[in-house]
Amino acid sequence: MAVIEVVLGDITQERVDAIVTAANESLLGGGGVDWAVHSAAGPRLAQAGGAIGPCDPGDAMATPAFDLYPPVKHVIHTVGPVWDGGAYGEADILASCYRRSLEVADSLGIRSIAFPAIATGLYGYPVRPAARIARETLAATATKVELIRLVAFDEETYEALSDLAPA
Ligand code: APR
Repeated sequence: MAVIEVVLGDITQERVDAIVTAANESLLGGGGVDWAVHSAAGPRLAQAGGAIGPCDPGDAMATPAFDLYPPVKHVIHTVGPVWDGGAYGEADILASCYRRSLEVADSLGIRSIAFPAIATGLYGYPVRPAARIARETLAATATKVELIRLVAFDEETYEALSDLAPA
């Protein structure tokens, strides 16, 4: 069973085997956490992403992490749902992002992983429901990953991710 912890900070500074970025389907980079990760990893990340993309919403794909420092082994790109009111399968797609990212991590022998609050920025997913889906999905998914770190970039997200009793 993985340990799940919540921190407040910049995911590009995490010392883990892999960091997850909240990507768009092209995997060519974008704004938000994707911009931070691509900026830190350098232009080869977009080249590698473009070579394996597109990535469907709810799916996850891995590339090397290139120039990220502190060095990590992989970047896992996952595409969250664009929030459209909640009646269009958004919750299932978001849960799939966390589940598929762990499956990809297991296939690469990853033992520690950092996640941002997927879909809660530009894609507009309400923070508290998204935090609950993250915690519940991660707690319910069998994985060989030993440490899962949820990295909040702001206080509201940190509170939402921390308030939840372990699922
Ligand atoms: N470290 C950790 N979290 C961060 C960082 C960072 N350096 N920068 C932003 N975040 C947080 C945001 O504050 C938000 O809580 O990541 C969360 C996800 O927000 P977005 O990055 O906007 O991702 P998302 O809502 O999934 O939208 C994805 O935006 O960046 C583009 O290419 C991306 O088109 C895609 C869309």
